[in-house]
Amino acid sequence: MNEVIEQAINYIKSFFKNDCSGHDVFHTMRVYKMATHIAEQENADVFIVQLAALLHDVDDRKLSPITCNNKKNAVDFMQSQGMNDDIINRVLMIIEEVSFKGTGTARPASIEGECVQDADRLDAIGAIGIARAFTYGGNHNRIMHDPAIEPSLNMDEKQYSAHISTTINHFYEKLFLLKDLMCTQTAKELAEHREMYMRAYMEEFMSEWEGLK
Ligand code: ADP
Ligand code: NI
Repeated sequence: MNEVIEQAINYIKSFFKNDCSGHDVFHTMRVYKMATHIAEQENADVFIVQLAALLHDVDDRKLSPITCNNKKNAVDFMQSQGMNDDIINRVLMIIEEVSFKGTGTARPASIEGECVQDADRLDAIGAIGIARAFTYGGNHNRIMHDPAIEPSLNMDEKQYSAHISTTINHFYEKLFLLKDLMCTQTAKELAEHREMYMRAYMEEFMSEWEGLK
């Protein structure tokens, strides 16, 4: 394994030590592995993809509000590894492009950005995605479902971050939109299965809710 990537893995392991908000080290490691797989399939630059995947959440708005604009954690790490400005800027650009912010989010400018964004989004759907959504909901004191609270669709970035809703609504407000937002063919195919699994889960959930099962 590349030495810088090995150091980045050590760095994120200590960085995410005490987090249980859904942004733990295991999320980052899953994104890293998935992004590597997608990058290999799509002939992208694997090193850039891996470095960006490992650093994609270290300056997250929710986890590190002080560094989220200048991405100081990612920059400091890359400088400590002697990365040149070209690599640093490519990685920072990808991190900036990765996060979902409502329906107006732009598609990444590079294939490497597409690989990381797709991997991050794949981790929000399927069996893991379901578990992460309910973990997030519990962590933020949200109720899991209230039929009286309608999902609100087509939110812009500002509305999306101010919005308070239920965890079930989060499926309709974000998770069921992700399949069609995948950029790479590799991720589109994986997303199909994860989406089907979530739809089936939602059907079961609603049947049990109505007392039909
Ligand atoms: P990322 O940019 O890493 O995908 P987010 O910070 O948007 O992540 O979300 C982290 C995890 O928490 C994701 O799995 C996401 O689906 C979930 N999550 C985010 N917002 C909500 C919410 N309002 N209700 C339930 N789950 C949520
Ligand atoms: Ni992430």
